[in-house]
Amino acid sequence: MARKIAAGNWKMNFTLQQAETFINDFNKESWPADVEVMFAVPFPYLMALKAIARPGITIAAQNCSDHEEGAYTGEVSAAMLASAGISHVILGHSERRMYYQDSTTVLKDKVDLALAHELVPVFCCGEPLEVRNEGKHFDLVRSQLQESLFHLTGEALGKIVIAYEPVWAIGTGVTASPEQAQEMHAYIREVFAEAYGVSIAQQLPILYGGSVKASNAQSLFSQADVNGGLVGGASLITSEFLQITNSF
Ligand code: 13P
Repeated sequence: MARKIAAGNWKMNFTLQQAETFINDFNKESWPADVEVMFAVPFPYLMALKAIARPGITIAAQNCSDHEEGAYTGEVSAAMLASAGISHVILGHSERRMYYQDSTTVLKDKVDLALAHELVPVFCCGEPLEVRNEGKHFDLVRSQLQESLFHLTGEALGKIVIAYEPVWAIGTGVTASPEQAQEMHAYIREVFAEAYGVSIAQQLPILYGGSVKASNAQSLFSQADVNGGLVGGASLITSEFLQITNSF
């Protein structure tokens, strides 16, 4: 069985003071011991939040560069994150694909660099509404995975976390139904099973993202192939996210 993960993606929200208050508050809360709790936070807050987060809370980055080092003003490399003690990085979020031209080949490079520096990529995939309406959502997700991940060895792939985030459900309040999430998660696991074998595929955590809230987390997480959530808006509200961590 894959491990259970409740991950918050704060995106470009919170001042440092708000972020510190959030983590200090969250440190006092409790959730099942077998649930990994993670917050992906803005770059300037990584080290400060890692220093105050209690053991069991992972502080992650939201992106890294597709270059190793050099003249790339404004970029942050995987090596820099690793040297700052960061262990996880979100890659391939649809907002990066849409607004910052993170293509599948750029993402392949980012995945390689992250793994080379022993960071765990939380790799996002998912289709826009028009693709689902055309019935091509399985094909698109398969190609997103194939083009950025399928060059990896089984050992490397075993370190990755997958997040399925249908674009039409992100920040819209429209959640995929538990059945829609399960259908795609089972498909993703099958795609990995074909390429890497059943045992690696069974161990792969596949998170669902897109308008996850305290009120719908349990019905999503109870699906056989949904191993947790990647949560945007609701991860900015302590009580909401706490309930999500307790929804497995
Ligand atoms: P929302 O939970 O705000 O829909 O965002 C989901 C997301 O993009 C997490 O990465």
